[in-house]
Amino acid sequence: MDYFLSTSSYTIVTGATSGIGKALARQIASKQGNLICIGRCKSSLDILSNDLSEEFKVKIIVRQVDLADINQTISFIEEISDSKTPICGLINSAGYANVEGFHMLSRSDRSDDLFTHLNSFVELNHFVLNSVLGHGKGFILNVASTAGLKPSPAHILYSANKSFIYNFTLGLNIKYSTDSLLICCLCPGSTRTAFFKNAGIALKKEKFDKLPIADFIADVALEQMLRGRPLVIPTLKHKLQYFFIKMIPLFALILIQKCRG
Ligand SMILES: NC(=O)c1ccc[n+]([C@@H]2O[C@H](COP(=O)([O-])OP(=O)(O)OC[C@H]3O[C@@H](n4cnc5c(N)ncnc54)[C@H](OP(=O)(O)O)[C@@H]3O)[C@@H](O)[C@H]2O)c1
Repeated sequence: MDYFLSTSSYTIVTGATSGIGKALARQIASKQGNLICIGRCKSSLDILSNDLSEEFKVKIIVRQVDLADINQTISFIEEISDSKTPICGLINSAGYANVEGFHMLSRSDRSDDLFTHLNSFVELNHFVLNSVLGHGKGFILNVASTAGLKPSPAHILYSANKSFIYNFTLGLNIKYSTDSLLICCLCPGSTRTAFFKNAGIALKKEKFDKLPIADFIADVALEQMLRGRPLVIPTLKHKLQYFFIKMIPLFALILIQKCRG
């Protein structure tokens, strides 16, 4: 637990205003961890900050940062670095899916997508890794997706970005993880959050209501990360899917994905 528990250090959480990131932020606060919460929605950040600091008596800093704008990400990192705010962890949960066909995406859609999921993501990882290396206990938890474990014709950029996050995080884990530095990739499957609504994906209510909730995903993720797991796939169904994908030949995987569309 002392990975989060600190009177002076902070965990940076992206995507803290909603869904899985919000649930993870709450879990860290409940374990007496201080937080720097990032999101675009100022009112959601303020509500989160009030709620968590009141309920758990921890320090919460909020920053409105649009990760699609790399200058905002760099300014944020410089501010934290210049103020010498001690950092003990990073949770990268910010993300969304562009569900229009790849050929339909505008230049700004493509650029926002890549800056959010890749450039800002890499900058934050680089900053936090250097902040925690050799400075006691720390952790990095990057949220990918089961969509990143296979190519997806319906969400080409999304699955490619998540595949990057998966390989990047496992690479970091192999190179840098120690008993005092935990580096973990979380690959949730469909989860009951605003993700689908924000992406414009219409899920039937009965189907949506059967999905695991963000609190469950956050609970499993932190518990397994603390056990030193490099990869967390929270549900049995998706664990089995992962092993199946690893076993079958590429031509069979392509055929299956072509049929699913
Ligand atoms: N829900 C699922 O089925 C599912 C499945 C697998 C993986 N995931 C992954 O889990 C992560 C969290 O998703 P969720 O389900 O919790 O969705 P969500 O409820 O829609 O939350 C997405 C979060 O990302 C933040 N965000 C998006 N674009 C941003 C930007 N440009 N700059 C800063 N923050 C940005 C949002 O904050 P603001 O709106 O305040 O900017 C929000 O806090 C994502 O990476 C997603 O890909 C979700």
